[in-house]
Amino acid sequence: QTGFTALDYGFVNTASTMSDITYIDGDQGILRYRGYPIEQLVKGNASFLEIAWLLIYGELPTADQLGEFDDKIRHHTLLHEDLKNFFTAMPAGAHPMAVLSSAVAALSTYYENDSDPDNPEHVDLTNIRLLAKLPVIAAYAHKKSIGQAFLYPDNKLSYVENFLRLNFGNMAEPYEIDPVMAKALERLLILHEDHEQNASTSTVRLVGSTGADQFASIAAGIQALAGPLHGGANEAVLNMLAQIRDSGQGVKRFVEKVKNKEDGVKLMGFGHRVYKNYDPRAKLVKESADEVLAALGVHDPLLDLAKELEEIALEDDYFKERRLYPNVDFYTGVIYKAMGFPTRVFTVLFAIGRLPGWLAHWREQNLDPRNKIGRPQQLYTGSPAREYRGA
Ligand code: SDX
Repeated sequence: QTGFTALDYGFVNTASTMSDITYIDGDQGILRYRGYPIEQLVKGNASFLEIAWLLIYGELPTADQLGEFDDKIRHHTLLHEDLKNFFTAMPAGAHPMAVLSSAVAALSTYYENDSDPDNPEHVDLTNIRLLAKLPVIAAYAHKKSIGQAFLYPDNKLSYVENFLRLNFGNMAEPYEIDPVMAKALERLLILHEDHEQNASTSTVRLVGSTGADQFASIAAGIQALAGPLHGGANEAVLNMLAQIRDSGQGVKRFVEKVKNKEDGVKLMGFGHRVYKNYDPRAKLVKESADEVLAALGVHDPLLDLAKELEEIALEDDYFKERRLYPNVDFYTGVIYKAMGFPTRVFTVLFAIGRLPGWLAHWREQNLDPRNKIGRPQQLYTGSPAREYRGA
């Protein structure tokens, strides 16, 4: 022991695991869901639920499988009426991610008789329930935050259409689905569906490994995702862009502050634990940002600011030396904002997208008979044994 502490070693927080679900090559900027390149899945006509099935069960669904899956989800969208009181009881200013996580944890109360984590049929049924109800809970958290009445789901609508109506419809008039918005949101949700062993997915796996059910594991994953270094970054990017705009100091001055590490400020939406190249998802989101905003008839100066920020950073040695590129969170917020979502709901949208990946990893691990409780290894760097001689 030479007086070193854990911080001297650089806190190495990795616990390796194996999975068949998603492949990432951080140097090449490659992302594949069960072997399919993300670019093909997003640019094809795949639906969010089709990809959810692929991630959970390993193969693309047949038309019958997808039809039955979609139909079951539509018929599980209703929440127990009792749960609505939950939203009233939550503090008025509660962050939608806190509401989402708490409501999901509370869901297990209603399904104790058929949510046995060791019963494959129960696991599939809980997948259906969570896929069906998370968007409804998310929409209610949004409606609660803006003081509007909750709507009931409409089972005639598709997954994404239902979610848009629950968020933007109201009791006074029929809601007209904007096909451009629905298609853009479907693509964004597909881009978020899985991403290997990120912090929130690792949390879901670790909690699940203790024998906790899917509700508890997903509730924990939502909390992990909320962190500003993880999913919470999409909200932090919008706040950063607004601060740059309101400061009047311009992008160049902000970049200098980041390089000088003034007040610990970071370029949110940049950098990644794995991608040391352009995040392939960020490329796809950036490509669609102009198209979606134009189609929605929205011009947002924050998008121009984001592009200016990216251009300056990608040319700057500070970012090049550290291999810092835009990640999935850098451009998504500008699109969500153009759709009409409040900034504090952005990470909730990330959670809706990531749910299939979480469920796929939970199922892969928990239905494997070799599964053992998670226990990350530790490198002890503390004091050697010593005698207690009393006060
Ligand atoms: C997501 O894991 C996943 O797959 C996550 C995700 C998913 O789909 O699940 O992809 C989603 O979480 C994307 C990341 C969103 N987070 C942000 O955008 C927050 C801003 N980014 C950083 O906080 C950071 O880049 C991380 C946390 C994302 C990654 O951190 P790393 O790889 O551990 O990098 P590091 O902290 O070791 O930094 C290396 C150097 C340091 O500088 P020096 O000490 O060497 O001088 O790069 C600097 C850091 O200060 N750095 C940044 C920076 N990110 C790293 N400097 C300014 N701005 C940044 N964003």
